[in-house]
Order: sequence, then C-alpha cells, then structure tokens
Amino acid sequence: MIDIRISNCNKNYGSLRVLKDINLEIERGEFIVLLGPSGCGKSTLLHIVAGLDRLSSGAIEIGGRDVTDVEPKDRDIAMVFQSYALYPTMSVRSNMEFGLRMRGKPMAEIRPLVEDKARMLHIDHLLDRRPSQLSGGQRQRVAIGRALVRDPKVFLFDEPLSNLDAKLRASMRTEIKKLHQSLGTTAIYVTHDQLEAMTLATRMVVMKAGEIQQVGKPEEVYHRPVNLFVADFLGNPGMNFMKGRLRLEGGRVSADVGAATIPLDGYAFDTSPTDGQAVMVGLRPESVQPSTGGEPFALTLKPTLIEHTGSDNLVVLAMGSEEIVGKFPSDMLPKLGEPVAVGFDLSRLSVFDAQTERRI
Ligand SMILES: Nc1ncnc2c1ncn2[C@@H]1O[C@H](COP(=O)(O)OP(=O)(O)OP(=O)(O)O)[C@@H](O)[C@H]1O
Ligand SMILES: [Mg+2]
Repeated sequence: MIDIRISNCNKNYGSLRVLKDINLEIERGEFIVLLGPSGCGKSTLLHIVAGLDRLSSGAIEIGGRDVTDVEPKDRDIAMVFQSYALYPTMSVRSNMEFGLRMRGKPMAEIRPLVEDKARMLHIDHLLDRRPSQLSGGQRQRVAIGRALVRDPKVFLFDEPLSNLDAKLRASMRTEIKKLHQSLGTTAIYVTHDQLEAMTLATRMVVMKAGEIQQVGKPEEVYHRPVNLFVADFLGNPGMNFMKGRLRLEGGRVSADVGAATIPLDGYAFDTSPTDGQAVMVGLRPESVQPSTGGEPFALTLKPTLIEHTGSDNLVVLAMGSEEIVGKFPSDMLPKLGEPVAVGFDLSRLSVFDAQTERRI
C-alpha cells in the first residue's frame, strides 16, 4: 500500500532548479532515508512533502489523498527539525501538549498521552523544565516526543541528530530505530550521516543536484551502486577506483588496470562489455585484506601509509602509479615498505564505464 507518492516534482527558485522531476513511491511503514551532499535538495523535498514549500510543478499524495494544495496542518504529518524548534518560554510538558491542544483534543486525553511518550523517551522527569534547562540530547528527545504524541500518518525528520555529539547520536539512532520498529509509522529522514542512513533505512534515496541517483535497500546501494557518484559518496574510507581497460579474449573478460590484470569471469555485467572499453574498477577497502592464501586473486603490494582506527588498520598500498586502501584487522600490522600478500574479494567488484560513469 502506497503511503506517499511524489510525482514529477519540480522546484525552482528563479532559474535555479533545486528539484528535477522527482518520482518516488513510499509504502506504508517504510523508513526512507534521503542522503546526498549539501545543497542537493534533501530539505527542499522534505518541506514539499510537509507542505512548507510550494511545488513549481508535480503532485504529492499522502495516504491516497492528493495533498498538493493542502495546508501543512491538514496533511497528517509531524516534522522534527535539526534546530528542535521548541517554544522557549513553555515547559517540556506544554511543548509536547501544544499541538494536540491546538487541535482541540481534551486535556484529559492529552495528559496520559504526553506522559506515556515522555516515559518512552526517558524525559518524564524533565516535564516541568524549560528547553533552556535541558541538554541538546534532551531537547531533541522533546522535539521527537512532540511529534510522537501527534500520532501522525507520516514522520518527517530533517537531520534531527546533527547537533549531538557522536556518542549521543549513536544512542539516539538506536532509539529512533526501536521507535520505528514498535510504531511502524512511515518516515522520511534526511541525513548527511552515512551510518545513520545505512542503519535506519528500509530504503535509501541518494540524491545529487536535485536528482535522484539511486533508490534501494542500504546493502544494495552500498554493494551495487548504479554510478560512480553513488559508489564514491558511500563508504568511509571511500571505494578504491582503479582506472583501466577491458580485455575480451577467448570468451573471457578481464580489466587491465596497469599494475595488474583483474579477472572478471564472475562479474555480473549489466551491459555487455566491449574490448578496450575504458573503465573504473571499484573495490571497497574491506574487500582488500591480508591474503590467507586461499583467495582466487591476490597481489603482493607495498604499504606506504598505515592508519590505526582502533578497530582496524587502514593500509595504503602502492599499486603501480596509483594507491589503494585496504582494511586490515587491528592485529595485522604490516611494515611500511615491506611487500605483503593482499587478497581481493572479487565478488564485491563494481565496474563503471569511464565515460558515462554508469555501472556496467
Ligand atoms: N528559499 C530559497 N531561495 C533560493 N534558493 C534556495 C532556497 N532554499 C534553498 N535554496 C537552494 O536550494 C538548494 C537545495 O537546498 P536544500 O536546503 O534542499 O539542500 P540540502 O540537501 O538540504 O542541503 P544541506 O545538506 O546543506 O541541508 C541549495 O542550492 C539552496 O541554496
Ligand atoms: Mg538540509
């Protein structure tokens, strides 16, 4: 059942095309994460679903109803902003009650609802404080609580955790995931944070300059990016790219990347490869590991730099005139300049046409 349908949406500010023909169907209960670089139009798309911004052309449906010309307050959505947007002079309780009071719900019903959601978010002991007397994390909980009590059809989140420190962010992320698992409300969530996107999303939408690049399950987008942009945008450290040319010989395909010839026998091509085709061969650092001797493809490479992250060692390896990064276990510490055998997990390869930058 489709809960949100975004059809042929365009948004222009003067001659600036901020959203270009966006089409997206969101099923009931999905948690959709919008991801993309700053300025790509994530907030604009969210505001358009909320009704805070007008479309230049196109239509929005929520719950089977065309809401393109419907006021935000009548769209049955609740939005959580990065800046919390709490009323500073009101107590936490009043902040959480406010939306329901405005809708004329009786106080006898509002009270238990607010207290229940406050308990759920561990802010029940803070109900009589003002926002200025709370930490950033507590304020964000209040902002989420205010959205929860409304029991809307759709939650919209615009970078709700970006003002929090890394640790708090991680724990709030887990809580949002739990909330979604228990409530099952459809949500659209904007973030810059890849870990947030990967862990929260039932489907991810990667955008660039007002256009959708790829929509899919997080693991699908991560492992099978449709183009160089998506491949490069996801992952930290980023995917390794090896520039080369395809070779078709005796019914077999390989990629000559200068320092090595990578066999592509097991690679599932989306389009038929041609001999001499200029390509970028992509492999994520975690697919470049110390050799166990058992891999079908291994190279002996010299480490030029090692970064300890605590959980693993990022090892920069010279490969011809280029470098690639491998993610080694923390107890595998190669020596700088001393060649090591490195295994490549070729089942995780992504190959892109160098000109079109599309996955082939
Ligand atoms: N009111 C406005 N008038 C003119 N241009 C605008 C307006 N609002 C946004 N823009 C432009 O639209 C583009 C998309 O902005 P938007 O806020 O949607 O980006 P975003 O993806 O949310 O970025 P960020 O990650 O930095 O929050 C940007 O180039 C921005 O400068
Ligand atoms: Mg934004």
